[in-house]
Amino acid sequence: MSHEPIEKNVGLLIVFVIVVISFGGLVEIVPLFFLKDTTEPVAGLKPYNALQLEGRDIYIREGCYVCHSQMIRPFRAETERYGHYSVAGEFVYDHPFQWGSKRTGPDLARVGGRYSDEWHRVHLLNPRDVVPESNMPGFPWLADNSIDASKTPDKLAAMRTLGVPYTDNDIAAAGKAVEGKTEMDAMIAYLQVLGTAIPVKR
Ligand code: HEC
Repeated sequence: MSHEPIEKNVGLLIVFVIVVISFGGLVEIVPLFFLKDTTEPVAGLKPYNALQLEGRDIYIREGCYVCHSQMIRPFRAETERYGHYSVAGEFVYDHPFQWGSKRTGPDLARVGGRYSDEWHRVHLLNPRDVVPESNMPGFPWLADNSIDASKTPDKLAAMRTLGVPYTDNDIAAAGKAVEGKTEMDAMIAYLQVLGTAIPVKR
C-alpha cells in the first residue's frame, strides 16, 4: 500500500493532516471574504452614531452577551418570536459582532423599537419592576455614570480603520453628541437601534 509509510510515520501523518485540514478550511472560509452577501451592508444599515457606539461598548463591558445572543436563526420558532432571521449584511459595521451563543435571556438582535425608552430604563435599573419573574441582574450604576466624551472621537476613528464609513465630520462631532449623557442613555440608544436596518414584521 502506498500510504503505509504515512500511516507508520507519525510526523509525516501530522504534516499531511495539517495540509488537508488547512486546505479544507481555506476552501470554506476564503470565499466569505469576497461574497457580496457577507461583505456588503444591507440597504438601510447605518453605522452606529456616537451615542449608540458608546452604548455598545458598555454592552460589552457589562457582559450582556453572556446571557443574550444577537443572532436570529432561520427557523420558524425563532422568526415567529423575534422577527426576520439575521443576515450577514446587518453586521458589517459590528467590530466585533455580538452574535453570542448563550441565551439565558431572549435574543436581542431585533429588540430595537420593541419597547419604549422608559421601559428599558426601568428594566435596566431593576428588571423585576417590569418582568416579575426575571432573573436578569439590575445595572443601576449605568444611570449614575456619565460618558467620557473625550474618548468618543477616538472610538469612531478606530472603527473607521476597520472599514466603518465615518466621515471627518462624524468624528469631529462625536464628543459633542455624547456630552452630558449617561451610560444609561447610551445603552438605551444602542438597544433601540438593534435590528432596525431591516423592516421587521412582528
Ligand atoms: C444573568 C443573565 C443576564 C444578563 C447578564 C443580562 N440579561 Fe438581559 N435578560 C435576561 C433574562 C433572563 C431576560 C428575560 C426576563 C426579562 O425580560 O427581564 C432578559 C431580558 C432582557 C431584555 C428584554 C428582551 C425582550 O425581548 O423582552 C433586554 C432588552 C435585556 N435583557 C438587555 C440586557 C442588557 C443591555 C444587559 C447588559 C447590561 C443584560 N440584558 C444582561 C438575562 C440577562
